[in-house]
Amino acid sequence: MMYSLARPLLFSLAPERAHELTLSWLKTGHKIGLVNGPFVAKPTTCMGIEFPNPVGLAAGLDKNGDYIDALAALGFGFIEIGTVTPRPQAGNPQPRLFRLPKAKAIINRMGFNNDGVDKLVENVKAARYKGVLGINIGKNADTPVEKAVDDYLICLEKVYNYASYITVNISSPNTKNLRSLQSGEALTHLLATLKSRQAELAEEFGHYVPLVLKVAPDLTTDDIAFIAKQLLNYKVDGLIVTNTTLSRDGVEDLPFGKETGGLSGAPVFDKSTTCLKNFAAVLKNQIPLIGVGGILSGEQAHLKQQAGASLVQLYSGLIYTGPKLIQDSVNAMQTS
Ligand code: FNR
Repeated sequence: MMYSLARPLLFSLAPERAHELTLSWLKTGHKIGLVNGPFVAKPTTCMGIEFPNPVGLAAGLDKNGDYIDALAALGFGFIEIGTVTPRPQAGNPQPRLFRLPKAKAIINRMGFNNDGVDKLVENVKAARYKGVLGINIGKNADTPVEKAVDDYLICLEKVYNYASYITVNISSPNTKNLRSLQSGEALTHLLATLKSRQAELAEEFGHYVPLVLKVAPDLTTDDIAFIAKQLLNYKVDGLIVTNTTLSRDGVEDLPFGKETGGLSGAPVFDKSTTCLKNFAAVLKNQIPLIGVGGILSGEQAHLKQQAGASLVQLYSGLIYTGPKLIQDSVNAMQTS
């Protein structure tokens, strides 16, 4: 209700300004007790973690973990923060975020703007939230891709003790060559190194934190077969399918449709869900899948589940449908 009143004002502002304003209103609303349940619970166990419901917030909305408590109060079963990099960085110059309302889509080329991993850890420590928290890690823009693994290691070590699971993001289209980590020796080297460090950290801290990979929707069948084989080989704990797409199918003639960056929202649903189905077919339930990309209704959350997802995540749908999408999705999904 409140969202439908605020939406016209928010859509009249520049997207990045609207984003900041919404999050600051949400934080204030939460502080004065305006944002909270009751919510329907739908407990789900996945990767050895108990989720109060299978609907999560996708990475990129709260890059630094500044709004964890307020976002959790919207009824998510889990929150993923990040992508965070070892050092703070400004990201790409503005404008870098574009709304395509006719297509219920967004194009972004934010470029991992964030305050760095130390600040994120401080924010997590300060939050009161005790629910499931994913921390999504990446590399700094000025780290050469051949040294990417060093950045992931720094982040893995720093966030290990504060995360319920850790997402290795190798699929943002806005960091040069990042997606090259999805193939060949770059992928095997990355997985071997991170999995071996995860085992040491589990020993050191006395608890195991699952490691999840996040992939792009723009993968070929061969890419999917290769990635799936490596996931099984290195015993990766979960897979998030998918990030934004480079495709402009269906939006190229719309205002901002030709902007550089990743496309999300309604136009990515089919592509992302096909990718999910293809991974599910190869992985045969051996690794849990988290479905994200283009969910704008409860029914679409359910379709992700039918395509093989144990959990789902939302981002663009929240902008177009509002927070009601969270409960709609929880209600539409089956208990696992
Ligand atoms: C994203 N996404 C994203 N993903 C990620 O792993 N790290 C990130 O930092 C970001 N940043 C980001 C910023 C913006 C403005 C958007 C719209 C998206 C991708 C996001 O988590 C999700 O995978 C895709 O947006 C597809 O889902 P939706 O938006 O279609 O529900």
